[in-house]
Amino acid sequence: MRRPLNQIHASSCRSAEPRWRVIGAARKLVFASHSAALIIVAGCWQQALADPGGVTSIFKPLSEPAQQIGETSILVMAICGVIFSVVAGLLLYTIIRYRHRRGDEASEPPQIYGSNQIETAWTVLPILIVFVLILVTSRTIADIQDRKPPTGAVHSTVVGHQWWWEIRYPELGIVTANELHVPESTESSHQPTYLKLQSADVAHSFWVPQLNGKTDLIPNRENNMWIAPTEPGTYLGNCAEYCGTQHARMLLRVVVQTRSEFEKWVKEQQQTAVEDPGAAEGRKIFFGNSCVSCHAIRGTSAKGVFGPDLTHLMSRQTLASGAAPNSHETLRAWVRDPQQLKVGCLMPNMQMSDKEVDQIVAYLETLR
Ligand code: CUA
Repeated sequence: MRRPLNQIHASSCRSAEPRWRVIGAARKLVFASHSAALIIVAGCWQQALADPGGVTSIFKPLSEPAQQIGETSILVMAICGVIFSVVAGLLLYTIIRYRHRRGDEASEPPQIYGSNQIETAWTVLPILIVFVLILVTSRTIADIQDRKPPTGAVHSTVVGHQWWWEIRYPELGIVTANELHVPESTESSHQPTYLKLQSADVAHSFWVPQLNGKTDLIPNRENNMWIAPTEPGTYLGNCAEYCGTQHARMLLRVVVQTRSEFEKWVKEQQQTAVEDPGAAEGRKIFFGNSCVSCHAIRGTSAKGVFGPDLTHLMSRQTLASGAAPNSHETLRAWVRDPQQLKVGCLMPNMQMSDKEVDQIVAYLETLR
């Protein structure tokens, strides 16, 4: 004997009640985990905004290209946010309004097959939105890339190495590492710095979030970027392209100084290395070992190009491309065994005695 449809459904619903309870519990769990994730994201956002100097925040741009990129990103995010709200809102409304109710088993909602108006709308609208996004983005890219250097702009060449940054100022005759010094750009004096980006080995990526977007350093190719920071201070950045074992410790600093401070720094860096008779022993060990095949010290016979220039080593804030602060203890640990501080780096343990290490460190510390 055939039973009416609603009776079949009612009995099957009763037997399936524990299943519905499980689904209900799962929904609550998903809701709770989403809420927790939202709270965590909100917390990180707060932190990123509260400490622009310490945490590298793309939401606190302090240089012209980064500001333009930031404005474009906010516009893009706002458009995407509106789309997300509309879609999620409609979805939520549909889920609640048309949820399963007791007694629904007997009937089916009206079925709609094909609607030219709706299908045209959801094809044309997204195309228009994507077109607006393309126009806005390409205008920003073109505006940033086409900017010609004004007279008096600072020019620097940054070369990526595994795993450190070589920084050259060909016009100023300066070679340094891991710390790019640039003058601040004020309203009365626009003072951008133009960078040529090259690589000595594999692909790296130059990224200082508050100053500009990422640009890759690619072997056998030269890329360009410019920055015009508006506030003095130290800006943190890092290599943003996986380049081997120590990619995560290929950190970068941009020190933005007032014009007069920058000129003072340039004068100091242009000097050749001082020769301190007090460190003669260490100097002898340095030049007697293979240190000189990798490092250069201007004004001496050390002319190596594989490692950082050490002429003014002590003027830098960090060692090993940001892996450690530049202090007596870390410098000693670094010379003793670089592999302890930065596993895989190209500087080997030179197997020196404690006394030799102390003497070399004493010599290096004269390189101010
Ligand atoms: Cu260099 Cu990652």
